[in-house]
Amino acid sequence: MFYHPIQIGSLSLDGNLFLAPVAGYTDRAFRSICIEQGADFTFTELVSSEALARNPHLYGAENSKTNILRRADNEARYCVQLFGANPDAMFKAAALLEAWRPSAVDVNAGCPVPKVTKTGAGAALMKTPGLLGRIVESVVRASEQFLGGVPVTVKIRSGWDLDSLSYATAAIAAVEAGAAMVSLHSRTRAQVYTGKSDWSLIADLVSRIRVPVVGSGDLYSAHDAERMFRETGCAALMFARGALGNPFIFAETRALLTGLPWVRPSVAERLETCFRQLMLLTRDAGEKIACREMRKQFCAYTRGIERGAEMRNRLTHAETIDDYREILDWILTGESGIGGANGEGRSDSEGAEEAGGGDTG
Ligand SMILES: Cc1cc2nc3c(=O)[nH]c(=O)nc-3n(C[C@H](O)[C@H](O)[C@H](O)COP(=O)(O)O)c2cc1C
Repeated sequence: MFYHPIQIGSLSLDGNLFLAPVAGYTDRAFRSICIEQGADFTFTELVSSEALARNPHLYGAENSKTNILRRADNEARYCVQLFGANPDAMFKAAALLEAWRPSAVDVNAGCPVPKVTKTGAGAALMKTPGLLGRIVESVVRASEQFLGGVPVTVKIRSGWDLDSLSYATAAIAAVEAGAAMVSLHSRTRAQVYTGKSDWSLIADLVSRIRVPVVGSGDLYSAHDAERMFRETGCAALMFARGALGNPFIFAETRALLTGLPWVRPSVAERLETCFRQLMLLTRDAGEKIACREMRKQFCAYTRGIERGAEMRNRLTHAETIDDYREILDWILTGESGIGGANGEGRSDSEGAEEAGGGDTG
């Protein structure tokens, strides 16, 4: 009942479990792994429209930044997220996405980072619905002219702070300007990523706009997902911190929602998946960068594993693929005492804390 296909403007998706944009994590290697595990739609992290419009060559095929924009091999459909406060730069940046053929373009109206909000972009747009509307209009025009009319979507927060819950005004302005879907992270900018997200606001938004509403906030387990669908009536939802180190959450949620059996992956399977992610990232970014970048991801994958702290300590020094392989062998051959069987149960909240203090997105 809750798991079903979804239509976003002209885009048809088979299911409604999405991977949220998470800066520093949702590169194409991780998105690829999430798709394997059943994610129905994926978002890139936020990309600066100003940087893209000013220096398109930096995002050319030979530059590592392209990995932000490039779709993964198994990523039949994906959405590129842009941020900015200047409708002209947003138009130009969206037009330049032609080379990447995104299936949708998302406008970020939720990033709480001062570097972004002080330019009027990200969550600052929650205070300026008129500007948000003009930005959406510009991106829609660019999509019609250069991207084959792919849907333009927005991702908003509840508001700037508790005294200014502007989600409905912002969403309506975006929809009137042509947005085909609205994702709501039901926290205010002031909350950043702390406190509890207020799902009643998602339910309220569902009753106010005619385009699909995607719920976001505090989705750390399949049961959370089921509860969000039930309590809010949202058309789709997006896992963010709950998917970090736990891409299996997509398959688990699908199984729960469709009444199919699901077997929790063993420690060995979890770590092998992570190792595969490292290899995918190495192909994109080279061994040195990939090994550095993957430390935090490996830590997320090892949350809840017995003696994980010792393992994470070793990971902080991992510089090469061989270092990772050694750590993996150490765990899987049983020398570490962790073993290749199921290990301990993963507590749902543990993986969640990984990026909790994130100051991005
Ligand atoms: C480290 C980090 C980076 C994020 N980056 C982005 C981003 O680039 N764009 C965006 O729209 N949201 C971003 N978000 C917000 C998430 O997409 C999501 O809405 C939020 O984390 C709430 O979901 P959760 O409580 O289930 O994690 C980020 C969140 C975190 C923790």
